Amino acid sequence: MSIRNFTVVGAGQMGSGIAQVAAQSGFTVRLLDLEEAFVRKGMRGIDKYLFRQVEKGRLTETEKGEVLSRIRPTTDLAEAVRETDIVVEAVVENMEVKTDLFKKLDEKAPGHAILATNTSSLPITGIAAATQRPDHVIGMHFMNPVPVMKLVEVIRGLATSDNVFEAVEKLARDMGKHPVEVNDSPGFVSNRVLMPMINEAVYTVYEGVAEPEAVDEVMKLGMNHPMGPLTLADFIGLDTCLYIMETLYEGFGDPKYRPCPLLRKYVKAGWLGRKTGRGFYTYE
Ligand code: CAA
Repeated sequence: MSIRNFTVVGAGQMGSGIAQVAAQSGFTVRLLDLEEAFVRKGMRGIDKYLFRQVEKGRLTETEKGEVLSRIRPTTDLAEAVRETDIVVEAVVENMEVKTDLFKKLDEKAPGHAILATNTSSLPITGIAAATQRPDHVIGMHFMNPVPVMKLVEVIRGLATSDNVFEAVEKLARDMGKHPVEVNDSPGFVSNRVLMPMINEAVYTVYEGVAEPEAVDEVMKLGMNHPMGPLTLADFIGLDTCLYIMETLYEGFGDPKYRPCPLLRKYVKAGWLGRKTGRGFYTYE
């Protein structure tokens, strides 16, 4: 199963990061989003990142141009998947949106194409069931920021074939990443472990145990985490954190995954972290 043509659906932070790394690894990439403005924003982000690589002397102007020329932005789904070998979906974390999209991808993509999702916690098996090719559906969960983080969680759905799993594992390696195999379960491993820690950090603020700065200092200086949990929550997006906690809570039915009321309150207020300029901290 050879992969040359790559399609990324969703030109947000994750999607554009995945497209960039794929293009830097030599793949031809189609980057699809609903509107021209979204795709243009994603391309601007990639250009900015590559420009910094040139400034640091890690990339020449020519190489930067070559990487950019390998990414074709588009808003036409049929065109984006016509010749694709793999689609990596990185759209909003919403089961209905994802299943609708996978139905369309299944109709338009060639029969051999792998349909991968970058979902952070939703069931791969459920997404696969929306298609006629559940054996070709798999989770390929990149971490943020994609160009920097080495991990890709590769998640097998119930029907994922061994061939597809092996092809995706190899693809992750070809992209300079370290794949780790995980089975389909709410939050997989990454968010099942990470999110309850973040949620617990929010509880310490909610219960007045400490200020956000103090919580983050404890975890940074005491546990050598590169970012404190509340800084990280703002970085990921508080809406995403809440959504993942809800998925864990619903998926396991265990009260230990109950989202902290303060997290709900911030999301209701539109304080979603870095992307809205305010979360546990404020940003310019
Ligand atoms: N995009 C691309 N590159 C970035 C970046 C970004 N947003 N932020 C930083 N970088 C790069 C910098 O350019 C720099 O690169 P070089 O070393 O090549 O020059 C490198 O990362 C280090 O950056 P800094 O020195 O500016 O800052 P830092 O040392 O604090 O590192 C960090 C920044 C890599 C983001 C680090 O703080 C970190 O690892 N934080 C934790 C990130 C994390 O946990 N991510 C997972 C989130 S969970 C997730 O993604 C899954 C999910 O489903 C929710």
